Amino acid sequence: MGLSFVFLAFFFCQLVCSSSILVCPKHQSISLVKFKETLNVDPSASPRCYPKTNSWNTSRDCCLWDGVICDEMTGHVIELDLSCSQLVGTIDSNSSLFQLTHLQRLNLSWNEFRGCHISPEFGRFSSLTHLDFLNSNFSGQIPSEISRLSRLEFFRLSPSSRTDLRLAAHDFKLLLQNLTQLRELHLTSVNISSTIPLNFSSHLTTLKLGGTGLYGIIAESIFHLPNLETLYLSSNYQLSGSFPKTKWNSSASLMKLDLSRVNFSDNLPESLGYLTSLNSLSLTNCNLRGLIPESLSNLTRIQSLFLQDNSLNGTIPSWMFSLPSLRRLFLSNNHFSGQLEEFKTSSLEEIILGSNQLQGHVPKSIQNVVNLTGLDLSNNNFSGNVDVSLFSNLKNLLGVVLSNNKISLINENKGSFTWPESLNVLLLAACEVKEWEFLRSAKYLWELDLSNNKLQGRIPDWAWSNWLSLITLDISNNMLTSIDSIPLLTIDTIDLRSNLLQGSLPIPPNSTRNFLISDNNLSEEIPSSICNSTSLFMLDLGRNNLKGAIPQCLGTITTLEVLDMRHNNLSGNLPTTFSNGSSLRSLNLHGNKLEGKIPQSLANCKELQVLDLGDNHLVDTFPMWLGALPKLKVLSLRANKFHGSIQPSTMETIFPELQIIDLSQNAFSGNLPASLFQHLKGMRTIDPSKEAPRYRGDTYYKDSITVTTKGLVREIVRILYLYTAVDLSSNKFGGQIPSIMGDLIALHVLNLSHNGLQGRIPPSFGDLSSVESLDLSGNQLSGEIPQQLVSLTSLSFLNLSHNHLRGCIPQGPQSHTFESNSYEGNDGLRGFPVSKSCGDDQVSDTNDTISGPDDEESDSEYWSDFWKAALMGYGSGLCIGLSILYFMLSTGNPKWLVRIIEDLEHNIMMRRRKKQREQRNNRRRNNHF
Ligand SMILES: *[C@@H]1O[C@H](CO)[C@@H](O)[C@H](O)[C@H]1NC(C)=O
Ligand SMILES: *[C@@H]1O[C@H](CO)[C@@H](O)[C@H](O)[C@H]1NC(C)=O
Ligand SMILES: *[C@@H]1O[C@H](CO)[C@@H](O)[C@H](O)[C@H]1NC(C)=O
Ligand SMILES: *[C@@H]1O[C@H](CO)[C@@H](O)[C@H](O)[C@H]1NC(C)=O
Ligand SMILES: *[C@@H]1O[C@H](CO)[C@@H](O)[C@H](O)[C@H]1NC(C)=O
Ligand SMILES: *[C@@H]1O[C@H](CO)[C@@H](O)[C@H](O)[C@H]1NC(C)=O
Repeated sequence: MGLSFVFLAFFFCQLVCSSSILVCPKHQSISLVKFKETLNVDPSASPRCYPKTNSWNTSRDCCLWDGVICDEMTGHVIELDLSCSQLVGTIDSNSSLFQLTHLQRLNLSWNEFRGCHISPEFGRFSSLTHLDFLNSNFSGQIPSEISRLSRLEFFRLSPSSRTDLRLAAHDFKLLLQNLTQLRELHLTSVNISSTIPLNFSSHLTTLKLGGTGLYGIIAESIFHLPNLETLYLSSNYQLSGSFPKTKWNSSASLMKLDLSRVNFSDNLPESLGYLTSLNSLSLTNCNLRGLIPESLSNLTRIQSLFLQDNSLNGTIPSWMFSLPSLRRLFLSNNHFSGQLEEFKTSSLEEIILGSNQLQGHVPKSIQNVVNLTGLDLSNNNFSGNVDVSLFSNLKNLLGVVLSNNKISLINENKGSFTWPESLNVLLLAACEVKEWEFLRSAKYLWELDLSNNKLQGRIPDWAWSNWLSLITLDISNNMLTSIDSIPLLTIDTIDLRSNLLQGSLPIPPNSTRNFLISDNNLSEEIPSSICNSTSLFMLDLGRNNLKGAIPQCLGTITTLEVLDMRHNNLSGNLPTTFSNGSSLRSLNLHGNKLEGKIPQSLANCKELQVLDLGDNHLVDTFPMWLGALPKLKVLSLRANKFHGSIQPSTMETIFPELQIIDLSQNAFSGNLPASLFQHLKGMRTIDPSKEAPRYRGDTYYKDSITVTTKGLVREIVRILYLYTAVDLSSNKFGGQIPSIMGDLIALHVLNLSHNGLQGRIPPSFGDLSSVESLDLSGNQLSGEIPQQLVSLTSLSFLNLSHNHLRGCIPQGPQSHTFESNSYEGNDGLRGFPVSKSCGDDQVSDTNDTISGPDDEESDSEYWSDFWKAALMGYGSGLCIGLSILYFMLSTGNPKWLVRIIEDLEHNIMMRRRKKQREQRNNRRRNNHF
């Protein structure tokens, strides 16, 4: 566009300039030359442009220079078009540009003024009607002087990329107020952060305010601007609005409307049917619901309809496929249901209907949509056979996405079928594909997804010569049995997970970044030529039978972010060569036969987040030095031969991000590492705003780890970033449980079982408000169960069995979910669920706990006080009743329950006071005697 404008301008100049005799005033050409000299020409800034200023030569009249237009009568420069001129630099306030005071049109678009502020001097061009800074990347605050340009009709500022170009809310209002002649205003991506003012010029035909940070409610008057043709307000995430219910404007002039990602929370209005000139409508992700109104069938000129990412429902009306001009139909990610009718318009180019609840057959009439470039029907309930011949006549087809339906892809008349040469993307996950032959003719594919199909045996040899342009190949979840090599020179991602592949590990081409071949039957050693793939970013070899040592060189591939070799037969030492600058984020070697120590060079892997060395034969002491890794979230050393005590660290911060530490089934001894628990910032704060970190290749690989929770061994996938666990079970730890462990309030799982721990359960455990699974079984713990544990409302698994606990089992909201085996094998626990009731001596037991040495840590909080009172005043029968009530209260919180519980509490308090009075009186009486 820029270029054609240039040519036009040039042509125009030739016409005008050659037909009149112009004399450019000398001071003007001096100004122009000076201006030229303050800027540089950098061809690399925009290679497709050319520098107009190169023709500026003082030996010629300046009115004949490229991009310069003079007034025919006076010779004054009235237009300067330097668009797309490879200019780089700054225009400051004493630039000679500002001496061209007669300028009416100034076009500096498509140049590179990054870091340069827009000078307030621009406000002095009082004759200016056109000012174009599109993609010229000025930065900083736009001066308020711009609003002096009261003759401006065309004002375009939109930067090409995110710069910090901003317009103060106040100046935005001023600008709209003063520029009463404005017809086009383009401020896309300028940071305005304001509400939308009301005083728009009634001449406006184009208003582009997308991504400007506007907030508040869109005044309906915008939709009624009498001459409006283009309105873009998309990507203002804090903006909401409602559609006009009546005619938008009397002339129905609107042609392009983009309100995507603005919150409407509404149905599509009937009134859209009035916009009969509309040729493009974008309402992506606007929180729309309900049916598509019939009135949209009036939009006979519409070419592009983007309604994806909403909650629209009902069937897709048949007239939608008859709109005579429609080219792009995007309805994906809504709740549309029912069957598709046949396509009656052949103008369609893109049909994007993925992620709905559509069903029935894929319409055969697709073969008549001759200009079709993209078809996405994925993630619906389409069924029946789809013959590939449907696509053979669609010569422009770029992508076909049929994944995850209930269809079977078939190829009836075998030999004669060919894919259009244009086809680049073919995604056929779970399409019952059984044979390869129909893919023989697909020679220009970039992306091929055949996952979850019924492919067997080996990939045919022709594939390697026909699929040379492949970038992503996914054949996971099939029944492939062998693969020799993968001679595809440009491939980036190969996914062969969950097949039946045997033999040795195939080496991916050196272009490969993601290679996933886990869950197969590969055996033999890992060849060190795997390290020839120097671009590797993700290597997933888990769940095979690979044996021998891990190639040393793997530690030296600095691009590698994920190395997963879990559940193989690997032996020998870990690589010792992890290099500085390593990108390693996840290292999973769980379930092998690795020996020796953890290599110190792992300290070079500053990006490491997940380290799982569990279930090996490692022999080492606790690697406190790993605490220096700033991002480590998961450390599992379970089931090895680690030993010794965990010594206090001299480091200031250790394991600042750690969320999961699993040291279970080793031979650690000594006291529990209180000094470690003092750190662990990641377990001491609950941050609900925490979001899953995103990585390249995330769509393929999901971190996962095996943890024991709620008495079961499970694999936790993906939620790692939210999950916190400490598992120190089955070691030789002794001494008391440090009360500081109660500070790990973000913990979901705490397992200290099967050690030699002594003393009481710290009342501070009552602070572990997120804990779901607490296992202290198989220790030497004594005393009562602290009353504070009843406040653990998230607790769904509790095991205190096989200790020396005694006294009454505190009754709380969760108590009824625990069976008696949670408590078995103790010295003297009483009460539900072990025995029917906890007798009178319970009062003294409870008092004992309350006045025990640990009491200082326990706040007598409202609820625990309440439960104490409940225990004292009543037998356990009522407690259970109350705990159920409380449970309902904490979940549902109905008002009438609040009343009942308040009444009960009041009664209990009254009884308790009465009892205390009686006890006091008794004591007094006893003293008296
Ligand atoms: C508004 O425009 C007038 C000229 O029409 C000018 O005198 C005045 O300074 C402008 N106001 C602002 C705030 O720029
Ligand atoms: C749509 O067009 C029909 C005539 O085809 C007309 O009766 C109806 O009023 C129009 N609806 C709207 C909302 O413009
Ligand atoms: C569409 O969704 C609305 C709720 O937004 C619901 O009331 C209505 O029954 C749904 N209609 C269909 C056909 O699913
Ligand atoms: C297909 O596209 C071509 C080129 O844009 C156009 O001339 C032709 O009319 C289109 N066919 C249909 C049926 O719309
Ligand atoms: C990849 O291998 C090819 C030959 O097979 C070689 O020409 C190319 O330089 C290699 N690229 C890298 C990045 O090693
Ligand atoms: C790996 O690279 C080395 C040279 O660095 C070369 O000698 C060897 O042949 C390559 N192996 C493979 C399988 O490409």
